[in-house]
Amino acid sequence: MANPLADELTSARRTRPCVLVIFGASGDLTQRKLVPSLMGLAHDGLLPPGFSVIGLARRAKSHDEFRRELSEGVEQHGREGASRAYSLQQGHFEYLQGSFDDPNAYARLAARLRELDEQRGTAGNRVFYLATPPSAYATILDNLKAAGLSKEKDDTFSRVIVEKPFGRDLETASALNAQVARSFREHQVFRIDHYLGKETVQNIVALRFANSIFEPLWNEKYIDHVQITVAESIGVEGRGGYFEEAGIIRDMIQNHLLQVMTLVAMEPPVSSDANAIRDEKVKVLRAIRSMTPAQVRERTVRGQYGRGFVQGQERNAYLDEEDVAPDSRTETYAAVKLYVDSWRWAGTPFILRAGKRLARRVTEVAIHFRRPPHLLYGGLHRKHLHENVLLLRIQPDEGVSLRFGAKVPGPDFLVRGVRMDFNYGSTFASSTADAYERLLLDAMLGDSTLFARRDEVEEAWRITDAIVAGWREQTDPLPSYESGTWGPEAADALLGEGRVWRRP
Ligand code: NDP
Ligand code: BG6
Repeated sequence: MANPLADELTSARRTRPCVLVIFGASGDLTQRKLVPSLMGLAHDGLLPPGFSVIGLARRAKSHDEFRRELSEGVEQHGREGASRAYSLQQGHFEYLQGSFDDPNAYARLAARLRELDEQRGTAGNRVFYLATPPSAYATILDNLKAAGLSKEKDDTFSRVIVEKPFGRDLETASALNAQVARSFREHQVFRIDHYLGKETVQNIVALRFANSIFEPLWNEKYIDHVQITVAESIGVEGRGGYFEEAGIIRDMIQNHLLQVMTLVAMEPPVSSDANAIRDEKVKVLRAIRSMTPAQVRERTVRGQYGRGFVQGQERNAYLDEEDVAPDSRTETYAAVKLYVDSWRWAGTPFILRAGKRLARRVTEVAIHFRRPPHLLYGGLHRKHLHENVLLLRIQPDEGVSLRFGAKVPGPDFLVRGVRMDFNYGSTFASSTADAYERLLLDAMLGDSTLFARRDEVEEAWRITDAIVAGWREQTDPLPSYESGTWGPEAADALLGEGRVWRRP
């Protein structure tokens, strides 16, 4: 069906010809996300003329073998039209075999880039994507600089996209930032947090600042608390080794959940400029109170999934996953209650929870408003009168809904919670593009609004480091929760003051 709002949706965003160089081009991310997303952009006609891709990795393979592998990835993971776009574009994908620590590989890369500038008109513009294990970042960055590839000359651009995890604590993230800064200037650096590329996450900003009805209520006077949930029904999916090091706090909360929280809590930016928005986001992070170990005990809950049934399928416990230590204390669920020390938010908790193997996959932001100060109809009706909740449904079932009380038809004055709904799919009659599409396009355009700035990443680590330090002091057993449930029971007490978790 045609999009009824299509006239208003034509994009004027066009990028200049460039070459995308993917380090780690035989890896899972390239196969499942990057190339399928590029082909989504190609299908929509959003790639620049002359656009070319050089994939660099260690194993020997021919251009044809490389293209065949990518073709399978696009077939399996691309959206409608991506495979057709790939069949037209595949000639512009090529493979360069080399080790990240071999200066000769960079000399060959530089030479090939110069040839492509001649042949394809890419005019010296490059985007380097680090789709590699984080341990390789420093080597690649040093070598790019040594080969003169990080320099922007005249009207050309040279940009680097860095994948998560960006460090594992404040110290390592600062060191990595310093390392990046030795090769690239901040305006050239694009730190990916794919949640920022999700349409519905960007809609938080639209909802707040393109409407006048919400903002007057958007503060501690009217909002009792905010619940931000990223629940997944999957487990660690073969990434046990990585997850043992990360846990859900580093994997999800330090980046995705805190990023979403900044968009909900930030002040109106002075303009739509990338730095104006990121200035406001970083102010939120700075205002989040660091926790002492005693507060960590009081305001956080951890858990690890045990056996159970998820959507009818029996699932293993985390401890039975591959590459997981039999006595592992790594958390696969965490809920944390954060306070923002600002005029707008004093006293309103933001409660963030993320977990693997929960009852279902759902990401949402629930703004719980305060109950009316005086209940005209008191007693009997109070228990039926839920608080107003503005629900931002990020995935799946993308949309926004508002819950409010309405009179039940009949002679009695009974009030019940009802819902008013906006649904992306039915309103815009188009599916939302993958987050990586938007982020790849923005990096090519040089728009860093949806990427984390150096100071944001470091502030987010300050907050999570304090939590991790508190947990390290705790010796009591880690609560286990049955797979397919909503997490450990201990999380219920965390909300406090008669509040309850949403069970979407
Ligand atoms: P993989 O382990 O699947 O791929 C790693 C790639 O790096 C391979 O192409 C490998 O080449 C190459 N490589 C490793 N060492 C060298 C070397 N010394 N010289 C040349 N090539 C080398 O990783 P992923 O694709 O899963 O992840 C990449 C990055 O993206 C990581 O930082 C990860 O955290 C991040 N990420 C991944 C996600 C995902 O869904 N996969 C999601 C979010 C982030 P070869 O095969 O030839 O050895
Ligand atoms: C990644 C995490 O960043 O995000 C994964 O490393 C997680 O553990 C994934 O599964 C969730 O992303 P999405 O887009 O599926 O919600």
